[in-house]
Amino acid sequence: MKIAIPTETAAGETRVAASPATVKDFVKLGLSPVVQSGAGEKSFWPDAEYEQAGAAIVPDAKAAVSDADIVLTVRRPAEAIAAAMKEKALLIGMLDPYDDGDFFSALAANRLTAFSMELIPRITRAQSMDVLSSQASLAGYKAVIEAANAFSRIFPMMMTAAGTIPPTRVFVMGAGVAGLQAIATAHRLGAAVSATDVRPEAGEQVRSLGAKFIFLDELAAAGEGGYAKELSDEQKAKQAELVAGHIKDMDVVVTTALIPGRPAPKLIGKEMVESMREGSIIVDLATERGGNCELSQPGKVTSHAGVTIIGYTNWPGRVPANASALYANNLRNFLKLMLKEEGKLDINREDEIIAGTCVTFEGEIVHPMLTKEG
Ligand code: NAI
Repeated sequence: MKIAIPTETAAGETRVAASPATVKDFVKLGLSPVVQSGAGEKSFWPDAEYEQAGAAIVPDAKAAVSDADIVLTVRRPAEAIAAAMKEKALLIGMLDPYDDGDFFSALAANRLTAFSMELIPRITRAQSMDVLSSQASLAGYKAVIEAANAFSRIFPMMMTAAGTIPPTRVFVMGAGVAGLQAIATAHRLGAAVSATDVRPEAGEQVRSLGAKFIFLDELAAAGEGGYAKELSDEQKAKQAELVAGHIKDMDVVVTTALIPGRPAPKLIGKEMVESMREGSIIVDLATERGGNCELSQPGKVTSHAGVTIIGYTNWPGRVPANASALYANNLRNFLKLMLKEEGKLDINREDEIIAGTCVTFEGEIVHPMLTKEG
């Protein structure tokens, strides 16, 4: 059974869906991996490493996918690549299920079986397959490094004969996977860190990382599956008041707040930005979903009232070697669920993880989120 890894086609995508290590595992699992030449280049895995691991290298995407039984991608593949796949083949990747367009209808028309990895349920058994977590951890780390680099001051307190430098005050908004990693990274760099979230249970995690939790009981908005839910208008106003009182004294703000399938909550308005000291930094990790800061622009670094607002998208893609390695492991672990016998697929659609991620099955859109019942 052939498993193909084409080069990513989405603009700016630096990651790849398999590493030489996972290719080696696929061979052990009885699969025949095919890698498009150059697919791992931006993660610094040359073709030769994939070849050594047991993959066949092919010149283009069509040659890679056209007779493959399984195709692994990071993002949605280009239309022509999906169209070149054979009937009933499996497509596994981060397919952006919250933005339907015609993409899933096209997959169904091509009679493909597709799995969207963002939909992996948050259960213990699925932790090793959770792409959102593996990628968010890296994003949280990199966001703080980027902020530290852009800031005109250092993060730690420093006592010198020439005077004492106070620690930088870092505020992290949203204490999920990315936020917690941002807190840990800023703390390790010596900053004085505070954080907020709408899930009260995040408080304990924030404090355990040495940061102060900024929270009001009225803001509690824990939703299903460990995720947050949207705040009511009254809660939003209370939160804005709380944030406005805190943010004016902050040097660096990292925002990571998200609600699955919804636009990112707007947490920092223009006036709040203007209340911050010139030279301060805001890093908005949520720009791909509209941004947590009213002024951030996707993919851009902008400045307002002397405050630098970093709105890069695809943060994991800024550390492609790690991001690809972890993502590739997530996909391998997921695929193992469906490989019961050596080199043979057994798709048990009763399995919570398989059912939760399967968006199209042999030509039908099956996920409740994408069907009329959803
Ligand atoms: P996320 O990426 O969906 O959102 C980031 C954070 O923003 C969350 O902590 C959320 O509560 C917060 N947020 C949402 N709206 C907000 C608002 N208006 N103001 C402030 N904060 C707001 O979250 P992520 O990283 O996916 O984590 C969500 C939960 O899932 C966490 O409890 C995490 O520990 C848990 N989790 C469980 C896993 C498992 O059991 N397999 C795997 C990964 C995460």
